[in-house]
Amino acid sequence: WAIYEDDVTAIQRLKQEQDAVILAHNYMTPEVFHGVADIRGDSLALAREAQQVDAGTIVLAGVHFMAETAKLLNPGKRVLLPDLRSGCSLAESITPQDISELRAQHPGAPVVTYVNTSAAVKAASDICCTSGNAVQIIRSLGVAKVIMIPDQYLARNIAAQTGVEVVTHPGSCEVHERFSPLDIVQIREGHPGVTVLAHPECPPEVVAEADFAGSTADMQHYVEDNRPAKVALITECSMSDNVAADHPDIEFIRPCNLCPHMKRNTLAAIRATLETGRHEVHVDAATAPAARAAIEAMLAVR
Ligand code: 13P
Ligand code: SF4
Repeated sequence: WAIYEDDVTAIQRLKQEQDAVILAHNYMTPEVFHGVADIRGDSLALAREAQQVDAGTIVLAGVHFMAETAKLLNPGKRVLLPDLRSGCSLAESITPQDISELRAQHPGAPVVTYVNTSAAVKAASDICCTSGNAVQIIRSLGVAKVIMIPDQYLARNIAAQTGVEVVTHPGSCEVHERFSPLDIVQIREGHPGVTVLAHPECPPEVVAEADFAGSTADMQHYVEDNRPAKVALITECSMSDNVAADHPDIEFIRPCNLCPHMKRNTLAAIRATLETGRHEVHVDAATAPAARAAIEAMLAVR
């Protein structure tokens, strides 16, 4: 930790001076997650927590769509993203035009949009979801068929859980699509008795090999509630590091695919964004109201 001390001390001081809080996704590296974050969580928790923030500035230690969501829910606050290049392969995969085409092909089917999308795509949707509430959101609609975009794997995993017909789009997470069922078979062979938890952005064949699938917060809660002796989290690398820090008695097997976008949130980038105010995130006024409505529709489902 000594190598981080200078940046951590500076960031804590800057937060006070700038009336800022740091919201950090579960994929932040431990020095960010445990060193400087004020609020930590999965995409759903960060959206909910963004509604409660009192401070005038939010630093979103995560990716661009998360900062947009925070801005949509806090139009009067300054929202900073440490590195504007922090994108997401899912958000990149789809445009509002794709949604128009899906609506034309499947008239009447509501559009459920994963939060990992741009504000413009959210604005073309009926309701948002995260991996933490997708089943609940789909069930709340009470329909036999939905358009669920842009993650083809999440859509197929949720279709299997709900029995609802799901039309989707060929998007995928560049981190989770790289896991294979063989990875899990090999983990089980090498670590008898291991509990395997997978993120539902993984292909369905991977989820089928796991003991449980859920959002990053769901995985964390599973570990806390069930306290397995050995666990493998089939998700982004930093997740295991962060959960393991709170559970020194549990053995973590660490299959690891890095998200290059999340990893742009270094302490140096966070310090620089607070020092300079650079990388403020704005949402186009023409799309903001409809995008906000899709997020608020999601948050209203309890
Ligand atoms: P959750 O934290 O909502 O599970 O999302 C995972 C993810 O990949 C966010 O980019
Ligand atoms: Fe996007 Fe996947 Fe990275 Fe999450 S982990 S930000 S879904 S590319």
